[in-house]
Amino acid sequence: MEMTALLGAGILLLLAAPLYSRELRFQPRALRVRRGTHEVDPEAGCGPRDGGFALEALSNNTHKRVFNDLSGSVSLSWIGDSTGVILVLTTFQIPLVIMSFGQSKLYRSEDYGKTFTDITDLINNTFIRTEFGMAIGPDNSGKVILTGDRSGPYHTGRIFRSSDFAKNFVLTDLPFHPSTQIIYNPQNSNLLLALSIEGSLWVSKTFGEKWKEIHKDVCLAKWGSGLTIFFTTFLNGSCKADLGLLELKRTKDFGKTFKTIGSKIYSFGLGGRFLFASVMTEKGNTRRIHVSLDQGESWNMAQLPSVGHEQFYSILAANDDMVFMHVDEPGDTGYGTIYTSDDQGIIYSKSLERHLYTTTGGDTDFTNVTSLRGVYITSVLSEDNSIQSVITFDQGGEWMHLRKPENAKCDSTAKNKEKCSLHIHASYSISQKLNVPMAPLSEPNAVGIIIAHGSVGDAISIINPDVYISDDGGYTWTRMLEGPHHYAILDSGGIIVAVEQTDRPINVIKFSTDEGQCWHNYVFSKEPITFTGLASEPGAKSMNVSIWGFRESFLSRQWISYTIDFNDLLNRDCEEKDYTKWLAHSSNPSNPADGCILGYKEEYLRLRKSSACQNGRDYVVTKQPSVCACTLDDFLCDFGYYRPENHSECVEQPELKGHDLEFCLYGKQERLKTKGYRKIPGDKCVGGENPNREETDLKKKCTSNYLNSSQMSSSSSSLPVILAVIGLMLTTVVAGVVVIKKYVCGGRFLVHRYSVLQQHAEANGLEGVDIAAASKTGYHDDSDEDLLE
Ligand SMILES: *[C@@H]1O[C@H](CO)[C@@H](O)[C@H](O)[C@H]1NC(C)=O
Ligand SMILES: *[C@@H]1O[C@H](CO)[C@@H](O)[C@H](O)[C@H]1NC(C)=O
Ligand SMILES: *[C@@H]1O[C@H](CO)[C@@H](O)[C@H](O)[C@H]1NC(C)=O
Ligand SMILES: *[C@@H]1O[C@H](CO)[C@@H](O)[C@H](O)[C@H]1NC(C)=O
Ligand SMILES: *[C@@H]1O[C@H](CO)[C@@H](O)[C@H](O)[C@H]1NC(C)=O
Ligand SMILES: *[C@@H]1O[C@H](CO)[C@@H](O)[C@H](O)[C@H]1NC(C)=O
Ligand SMILES: *[C@@H]1O[C@H](CO)[C@@H](O)[C@H](O)[C@H]1NC(C)=O
Repeated sequence: MEMTALLGAGILLLLAAPLYSRELRFQPRALRVRRGTHEVDPEAGCGPRDGGFALEALSNNTHKRVFNDLSGSVSLSWIGDSTGVILVLTTFQIPLVIMSFGQSKLYRSEDYGKTFTDITDLINNTFIRTEFGMAIGPDNSGKVILTGDRSGPYHTGRIFRSSDFAKNFVLTDLPFHPSTQIIYNPQNSNLLLALSIEGSLWVSKTFGEKWKEIHKDVCLAKWGSGLTIFFTTFLNGSCKADLGLLELKRTKDFGKTFKTIGSKIYSFGLGGRFLFASVMTEKGNTRRIHVSLDQGESWNMAQLPSVGHEQFYSILAANDDMVFMHVDEPGDTGYGTIYTSDDQGIIYSKSLERHLYTTTGGDTDFTNVTSLRGVYITSVLSEDNSIQSVITFDQGGEWMHLRKPENAKCDSTAKNKEKCSLHIHASYSISQKLNVPMAPLSEPNAVGIIIAHGSVGDAISIINPDVYISDDGGYTWTRMLEGPHHYAILDSGGIIVAVEQTDRPINVIKFSTDEGQCWHNYVFSKEPITFTGLASEPGAKSMNVSIWGFRESFLSRQWISYTIDFNDLLNRDCEEKDYTKWLAHSSNPSNPADGCILGYKEEYLRLRKSSACQNGRDYVVTKQPSVCACTLDDFLCDFGYYRPENHSECVEQPELKGHDLEFCLYGKQERLKTKGYRKIPGDKCVGGENPNREETDLKKKCTSNYLNSSQMSSSSSSLPVILAVIGLMLTTVVAGVVVIKKYVCGGRFLVHRYSVLQQHAEANGLEGVDIAAASKTGYHDDSDEDLLE
């Protein structure tokens, strides 16, 4: 573990990357792809437009920066939105048996990476710990905290704090040694919390100047809303020994008062407005999820199967409306079941079975497609143990295979060469070290666009993947680039750039201004570099992109970045005529309900593919929503009901026929009267079909929170228990060696993906490091071996 973060990271891992060689083409070329899209492009054909771009406009706007240091890894952070301020931390570490020697340097840019100033002297040449990275404050607070190495000659930890976008830093000696990165309150960047290596919870109200210890024996702590802090504590033993016996506590006044809001806790997590805790059952060897909507004042047991100690729960995604919860199967199967919640987080419907989620690696392909409402992609493990991709367009209501791209042929995994589907490579493939440099990419402001590696057949193939694009939120796909690539979306989808993943040095970046139909090559440097990653400001609004890599000579290696500004390439602003109307989720324009998903439809104004112009930084997605009449598709099957395959009606589970469903809601027994349907959380339909549902209060007090387990629709095991709940908080996206970080508003800083709390981390009673799915490059372990050679 220690090794991987060290020396090799940047340089060695690339040399250790799987071999994949393809001829480099230095001549500009255009690759035309056929596609079935919403827009028939009258000017189809890349030829005429190909010469239209003045590539000198790019060469005049390509900025090279050479970093004269030996560092093994580079981390990048954007500070604030649209500020252009980037901090680059390079670190070099040699692990020695007794102590380690390390050196880090800090650089700052104010112009999106075109030029950098070395500001290492601002931190007095202190070695900064990469694993703690740069803690960037929420929103545009301009706050930065760097954590110094504790193996230095100091008795306690030290941090460097900046409140002015890293122009100046103040050194503060901490009264403790932090064990994790310092955590900002999402709403107020002056409020911080940290755990010490002794397990004490420390808080600061003064942006880290003064600290106060508020509790000992703390395992895991998180900010709730406002000033609330939630944390688990152990009683006698340790976080590990007392797993399942922890207490969940809350303070709203920085430790003046505490309230214990749960006991026999295994772990807890926050997602949307929900607070989840996994609690040991009376039997003592299984645990169940309990959920609270009022900061832990009252709890309800989620109607989900209990899990044993070798199993886990995982929140795949959560917003204020609902949660996607994965429940691991008993036994080391590598899969589980996805359940979707109601708006209270209490009642769940089975959404997808055999959902791939390995216990060991904590890897799942679950991806929220942020460029179109309701769309999610993930993988299932089929009966024959092959992995297949599935997509849902209605927030987990129905999952299906991805349509085969018209311009791709079925590969050898397909039994029928005419009929097969597209399979997407995501975290699992990356963890298996397939040659997949990036996870799927979508951006909320690049409407409908999804870019992903994939293969076409009956299941995911391990041969080299190609890059596919969808421009309609996943309904249709086109093969966009041959072989694996790094890719980025710029100017809200107006420009897509890609760099080929190869084992040899490169000097070409490809770009497309028509959503990936035609590609142009730009040679950004005469001398090729060993490429490590693309970096552009998170949010996809930028027109500047940096190519990071290094160059080797006889005795030295130098980090190099080339920052390209596409501003002059597209030298006019988009006008009204450049946009066209597009109805999302449309499949049958003659149907009045066409495009209705979750009770409403949305018509967007999208940039025409043929328009080469700038959306610009101020671009906002224009959409016109309209409400739809309800149909059965707007309802989930209620508790005790299910939809047989290919049926739209919900039918009662045979074993529950004739029984009233009773359950305990906020300490009162309720009887549920239902025709089998409940509205999908977030569904806005009105009128139309309206199957009714009511809950009647039985006026009985109930103490047990447990639903009689024989009523659970799926296997509830009585095996011993565990739980892995995932907070949605996550900061880091590692692209190759380049760590890209940014705090997006509100502290929900999912930069690109959801976060995963690994089971092992949880098993230690510590949250460990949340890992963004996109962050696993699959190279890191290789670099270890190289290092030891
Ligand atoms: C690029 O720069 C050169 C010299 O600086 C200038 O002559 C040329 O017109 C510029 N090209 C463009 C497209 O701006
Ligand atoms: C910088 O470090 C040196 C020794 O490492 C120390 O003497 C000096 O006081 C430090 N300066 C500041 C501003 O911390
Ligand atoms: C703590 O220790 C006491 C006495 O040894 C024991 O009775 C109690 O059950 C322990 N509590 C936990 C949570 O282990
Ligand atoms: C998926 O992403 C979209 C866009 O960012 C977001 O609005 C939605 O809440 C996410 N869904 C879940 C369940 O987190
Ligand atoms: C690109 O970088 C320049 C500064 O070098 C900045 O002025 C410009 O706004 C950036 N463009 C975008 C779209 O971010
Ligand atoms: C459901 O429909 C699909 C496609 O129409 C068909 O292949 C499948 O056999 C059907 N399943 C059942 C259980 O009828
Ligand atoms: C669950 O219900 C069944 C019959 O409905 C009953 O025999 C069993 O004792 C109940 N179990 C618990 C734990 O209440």
